[in-house]
Amino acid sequence: MFSTTELADKLYRNKTLGKEELVRLINCDEETGEYLRSLAEKTRIENYGHDIYIRGLIEFSNYCCRDCLYCGIRRSNRLCERYRLSLDDIIECCDEGYRLGFRTFVLQGGEDPYFTDERMGEIISKIKSRYPDCALTLSLGEKSRESYQRFFDLGADRYLLRHETADAEHYKKLHPQEQTLENRMRCLRYLKEIGYQVGCGIMVGSPFQTAENIADDLLFMKSFNPQMIGIGPFIHHNQTPFADKPDGTLELTLRLLSIIRLMLPKVLLPATTALATIHPRGRELGILAGANVVMPNLSPVSVRKKYQLYDNKVCTGEESAQCRTCLEHRINSIGCRIVTDRGDSKNI
Ligand code: 5AD
Ligand code: FES
Repeated sequence: MFSTTELADKLYRNKTLGKEELVRLINCDEETGEYLRSLAEKTRIENYGHDIYIRGLIEFSNYCCRDCLYCGIRRSNRLCERYRLSLDDIIECCDEGYRLGFRTFVLQGGEDPYFTDERMGEIISKIKSRYPDCALTLSLGEKSRESYQRFFDLGADRYLLRHETADAEHYKKLHPQEQTLENRMRCLRYLKEIGYQVGCGIMVGSPFQTAENIADDLLFMKSFNPQMIGIGPFIHHNQTPFADKPDGTLELTLRLLSIIRLMLPKVLLPATTALATIHPRGRELGILAGANVVMPNLSPVSVRKKYQLYDNKVCTGEESAQCRTCLEHRINSIGCRIVTDRGDSKNI
């Protein structure tokens, strides 16, 4: 039987492993963990040098008609104070972002029926005509194929839709009955067929998740071969049914970032806000473990505290106007640099 160090080498070489082998790496000791990390860092540098891409995240609505059990803005959370940004607000965020050097904007929101295809279309067209040199990423949840196509035809470039878990039984424990893994996967397939650069992903340490589940997620990611993968620790929100569930850990999140970098060497992999929330140097540690993207918030400071998917989210206070400078320092401190361009995947 291979040692876990040998498995790490095998993963580096073959860019995949069997399920049982992945489970062993997921559970490996600190020493192998550090070895995995060093291989992943090397792989990141081989593919992307010391370049870190930035995406300006605009959280434009926290109204949501879905009821994911883990999420603070789920429709059943009556205590959540709701907001929507207007088209002008959104454009103002982009203007500010462009000035700061962002060349990708990510529009993320709850599944808010107010934003019909027509209204979304207007926003997409406006951003793409004002900033033809920028990429536009959407993160709007599950839509019809026609809607995805319409947004793509208007110029949207990328779409983020985490699959959350590749196991249908696990999916059921995280979502109400009417939300199915089948539909989530269908949406991901449509997005890819239409021609978006697509991102899938999971929460690390979500309630009921097992190491076997994670291995299946990794194998799904490998076969789906997305341009982007978003992972971050699950963090409980006190007004959800999962208020008492333990949070995902820093260690496991970093380990998975490394494994993903080794399985998909060219993937765009953010060090997420959730990772920054569970550790003060979470973003930096994420990059050192293989991540190569950061997505600071461009939403108006007045609404940031309201887009609370989980407790204690970072960068929601007054200091957040300084995110760009703060990030720059942090990234430079670990020998990397922020690049100001669209930062397309090298795997298109
Ligand atoms: N903790 C961490 N991540 C969360 N998300 C939603 N709720 C939480 C939480 N409590 C993630 C989901 C979703 C993305 C937008 O945010 O994975 O896809
Ligand atoms: Fe937001 Fe540092 S990245 S304050």
